[in-house]
Amino acid sequence: MLQKIKEGTITITAPVEEKVSKELPVFYNPAMKFNRDSSILLLKAIENKDMMVCDLLAGTGIRSIRFLAELPKGKIESITINDNSEEAVKLTKKNMAANRKLIGKKAKIKVTTKDASMLLLESTGFDYIDIDPFGTPNPFLDAAIRRLARDGILAVTATDTSSLAGTYPLVCQRRYWAAPDPGSLKHESGLRILIRKVQLVAAQYEKSLTPIFSYAKEHYMRVFFKCEKSKSKSDEILKLHGRFNNAGPMWLGPLCDQELVEKMYSLATQLKYDFDGRFLQLIRDENKLNIVGFYDIHDLCNKNTLQVPAFDGIFAELEKRRCKAARTHFSEYGIRSDIQEVVLVRILKSLAKP
Ligand SMILES: C[S@@+](CC[C@H](N)C(=O)[O-])C[C@H]1O[C@@H](n2cnc3c(N)ncnc32)[C@H](O)[C@@H]1O
Repeated sequence: MLQKIKEGTITITAPVEEKVSKELPVFYNPAMKFNRDSSILLLKAIENKDMMVCDLLAGTGIRSIRFLAELPKGKIESITINDNSEEAVKLTKKNMAANRKLIGKKAKIKVTTKDASMLLLESTGFDYIDIDPFGTPNPFLDAAIRRLARDGILAVTATDTSSLAGTYPLVCQRRYWAAPDPGSLKHESGLRILIRKVQLVAAQYEKSLTPIFSYAKEHYMRVFFKCEKSKSKSDEILKLHGRFNNAGPMWLGPLCDQELVEKMYSLATQLKYDFDGRFLQLIRDENKLNIVGFYDIHDLCNKNTLQVPAFDGIFAELEKRRCKAARTHFSEYGIRSDIQEVVLVRILKSLAKP
């Protein structure tokens, strides 16, 4: 059933059913609001201007229409809004017309109904390419990386979380050339495995892709990469691939650029609409630590037959010992810290109720 939906500053029409699935006549998922909100914050926060943008798999067009309505003039010079579904493109045009006052004349707009890889390969290239597919981004990576400007931004979503996070290890091996971690670190490992795969595709073209903002949320993973065309930078990236906790190979470098996340967080406070600022704050705070992996306190307590103590008490003890520590957006039971496991278990024992 088509319904009017308000998201950010715009209102669009989209099919709404009880169950969101790719069988919808045109795909729209309200659970991806943070994905779109944070894309806008990131584009606002980076210095780049006059960008040539490609919304490769646009669905209802909501992402592009929000970019045009919410980003300042001068950020986007041109935008290509593409989907191979005629119905999607028809709805995109209708949604654009309904928001024409908000869109204004800020950018050149092209709406196309092409196969994504063909569109990319026939183009002269883009400064920002957004890949937001059903499932894995794999089919689109090669063409997108080839047509990404030498200093461009690549945004990648993956919704095949079950393969990246260890439910289907053989699928992960085939798609991402790595062994997933099915344990409590599954989402962080999955995200790092995804990052490495994209970086490997880019390295073939002597493009280094550094993650500047990445996270896992609900059913999906999302990474923004900054591209640099350089053989030596590509080699540096590959040196940061390795195994962690018996999983991988994966990216072992930082998941975000700290300065960028700080800027996004500060811009988020100025938003006039509902935004999950707490989630962005978690990403910001844990990224400061630059530590791979975290402790799952419930797992540790189970392993040692302890009751789970209050997290405030654990953090107070970590602070007393001058350990780095933060919560993690990957798990409500997680604490990211440089403390040794044996010492943490000692703390948990001292705090546990007899
Ligand atoms: C997950 S939806 C995109 C959602 C949209 N980006 C948003 O923010 O709401 C994926 C879209 O990709 C389109 N698609 C799938 N394969 C494609 C291809 N090979 N070329 C172009 N579009 C494709 C589908 O029609 C679908 O609308």
